[in-house]
Amino acid sequence: MSTTDSASHYRHPDRNLALELVRATEAAAIRAVPFIGRGDKNAADKAAVDAMRAFLGTVNFDGRVVIGEGEKDEAPMLFNGEIVGNGSGPHCDMAVDPIDGTSLTAAGRQNAVSVIAVSDRGTMLDASSVFYMDKLVTGAEGIGVVDIRNPIGENLRALAKAKGKSVEDLTVAVLDRPRHDQLIDEIRAAGAGTRLMLDGDVAGGINAARYGTRIDMCVGIGGSPEGIVTACALKGLGGFIQGRMAPKDDDERQKGIDAGLKMDHVYEADELVNSDNTFFVATGVTDGGLVDGVRRMGPIIRTSSVVLRSKSGTIRRITADHLAKKWLDNE
Ligand code: FBP
Repeated sequence: MSTTDSASHYRHPDRNLALELVRATEAAAIRAVPFIGRGDKNAADKAAVDAMRAFLGTVNFDGRVVIGEGEKDEAPMLFNGEIVGNGSGPHCDMAVDPIDGTSLTAAGRQNAVSVIAVSDRGTMLDASSVFYMDKLVTGAEGIGVVDIRNPIGENLRALAKAKGKSVEDLTVAVLDRPRHDQLIDEIRAAGAGTRLMLDGDVAGGINAARYGTRIDMCVGIGGSPEGIVTACALKGLGGFIQGRMAPKDDDERQKGIDAGLKMDHVYEADELVNSDNTFFVATGVTDGGLVDGVRRMGPIIRTSSVVLRSKSGTIRRITADHLAKKWLDNE
């Protein structure tokens, strides 16, 4: 390898980075343990944010947080635009969600995960100025078959045909929100079943795209940061995603336009993340269809994680046992 080759290789995230990053999501999940089911979602989130940030500081990379915990003055750590890592490795864009499902965690409900998504520097859409995004996610069978502009019934019939199933055999994940009442009625009228999610549409989207799950599609309006995170994962899964900004009001719409976002535009996967070198890591906080939750087992704490890398198209599952006394303050 020439010097130039090795210098350019060095600037891009490589396979080792994913295994480094999983240590940060593991740390966030472990630190959330004392707060699972304790009713305080902000305390759970803070513990996870602090832990993730501390670990990211030790990783050999130069990460720019494109999607973080909010604007700098609202979020003291992991704010949008913050530079993390020790600065000595590849240049990356990052989306972090120390806990996707803070309310789920506080209630002790299923499907909360700690996630990090990474791509080459300059490739991640900064969608943070508009809180919500309308999304459509399926597995690879949906590519060239479904479209967020089409009525949901039409998309379901097209996807069923592509999967060699009947519409009655399809299950659609949707966030259980009043804004989705009509969408839910239309899904059921078309003959498909729904999996209503209390929270956590990152896991919902990934489960729609992952082989061998009971979810065929994930639709509806959820967080736009979660849309970018899901897009990074989808690159590794080879699935389908489209997103469209869903501003709450005219002020937010204008804020989005001022930040360079296109309203009423359908963002394809490559516009959400313009890179084929993406990483996605997730560690379970509470049990879910994607990963098991973090659990205390006597002297150890067991974490379950998934690591996806788009270049290799691999999903790696990592179970780790951590000595509890090294982690929890009350040991
Ligand atoms: P948090 O854990 O950050 O609270 O997000 C949970 C979540 O359910 C996301 O997965 C989803 O995209 C978003 O909130 C939906 O927002 P809302 O609860 O306002 O409908």
